[in-house]
Amino acid sequence: MGKILVGGEVCLKGEIPVQGSKNAALPIMAGAILHRGYTVLHNCPRISDVYNMEQMLKDFGAGTRWEGHTLILDCSQICGTAVEEGLCGRMRSSVMLMGSMLGRCGRVQIGYPGGCVIGKRPIDYHLKLFADMGAAIERKGRQLVLSCKELKGVRHRFPRPSVGATENGILAAVYAREPVILENCAREPEIRHLCAFLRCMGADIEGDGTGSICIAGNSRLHDGEYTIPADRIAAGTLVLSGAVTRGQVSLVGAPREELDELLKVYEKMGGQFSWNGGTLLTDSRRVRNNVGEVTTAVHPGFPTDLQSPLMAVCCTLEGVSRIRETIFEDRFRVAGQLSRMGARIRIMDNEAMVEGPVRLTGCAVRAQDLRGGAALVVAGLAARGQTVVECQEYIERGYESFYEEINLLGGRIVKIDSKT
Ligand code: EPZ
Repeated sequence: MGKILVGGEVCLKGEIPVQGSKNAALPIMAGAILHRGYTVLHNCPRISDVYNMEQMLKDFGAGTRWEGHTLILDCSQICGTAVEEGLCGRMRSSVMLMGSMLGRCGRVQIGYPGGCVIGKRPIDYHLKLFADMGAAIERKGRQLVLSCKELKGVRHRFPRPSVGATENGILAAVYAREPVILENCAREPEIRHLCAFLRCMGADIEGDGTGSICIAGNSRLHDGEYTIPADRIAAGTLVLSGAVTRGQVSLVGAPREELDELLKVYEKMGGQFSWNGGTLLTDSRRVRNNVGEVTTAVHPGFPTDLQSPLMAVCCTLEGVSRIRETIFEDRFRVAGQLSRMGARIRIMDNEAMVEGPVRLTGCAVRAQDLRGGAALVVAGLAARGQTVVECQEYIERGYESFYEEINLLGGRIVKIDSKT
């Protein structure tokens, strides 16, 4: 595992573009399998999770080629149906291959998905839906074998909104015999992006962005091109990086409709912002106030993925900020690492009380998950002295050039390779 050295007490200033969205790209890549032909994805982030998904598609027999940030997938020849255990254990999104492979091949052999340890993260909603649609599910050692002759149309209600289960259901339904109606669906923007992609390939889907989605089934897909939208979480992390340094950061191509909740919280802390076309201009020179209470929630609520970076900023704000996590049971692990830097954080059940302002001090800390790792960088930018973030590979699962971007804005981050 490598590490990064984060120089502290910097003030970030300048303009940078926002990368393509990880959580939009991954299900869309899984969706490309449904089409017996070419899919061209522009603005695809070059991050390790995307490379892992690319490898899984290759293992099934897909051809893949990169041209800059354009990923060209040729899924005309899919011959395998088994996902290599090591690969699928590395990321949560491998679960999406259940829906797309059932739709395309009527069979998939796959292990339980891995991904960031932020809670139990079962896949019971996914499996229940596939069983309702007529798939047989068999346990084979540590693997699951899902198979069907054909998936049938159903009206299915999820016990609670799940981003992954909604996406998986949509993927599986594209080739179902009759229409599939999914209820109590997640409304996260990534669901809309997946549906927009599938529609541009020829699928007939309605209702995405609402709790009830209808997929017509029996689709005939054709070659298509799609541009992966900007990453709302990467954009939010950069806004919070500007906030912690009291800087002025502008984000070109920020996803305007997807940042509302973050920007409300940013204003509460004293941040000011405006839009110039597609560019978000933030001014954090007056950032000072605690954020009161922030509760993570399903979209359009405050995104759980920005909770850890927000916690890092709260350490530098006056008074007590309360953060309630309602999506995952174990997403406060970064608090322990922030405390090593001098943060005063008390955790009671699903609530974190962050007392500030404290003068954070750089020291050696360890990334334990993607967003928690990013939060340590955010904290390090404001800390006195140098912060050494170990296990930075977690950060690189989702952020394409976070360190370079921070450095372009005036930060001082150096990456030390694991080999050196
Ligand atoms: C997606 O995870 C994202 N991952 C996560 O991003 C994000 O934090 C999460 O949605 C919530 O927005 C990707 O898009 C690849 P869920 P997902 O199913 O689909 C429970 C990041 O940092 N649940 O909406 O796994 C589950 O345990 C990440 O980029 C079940 O109980 O999230 C959780 O408590 C990490 N059974 C809740 O639902 C199931 O079968 C919501 O999870 C499925 C989910």
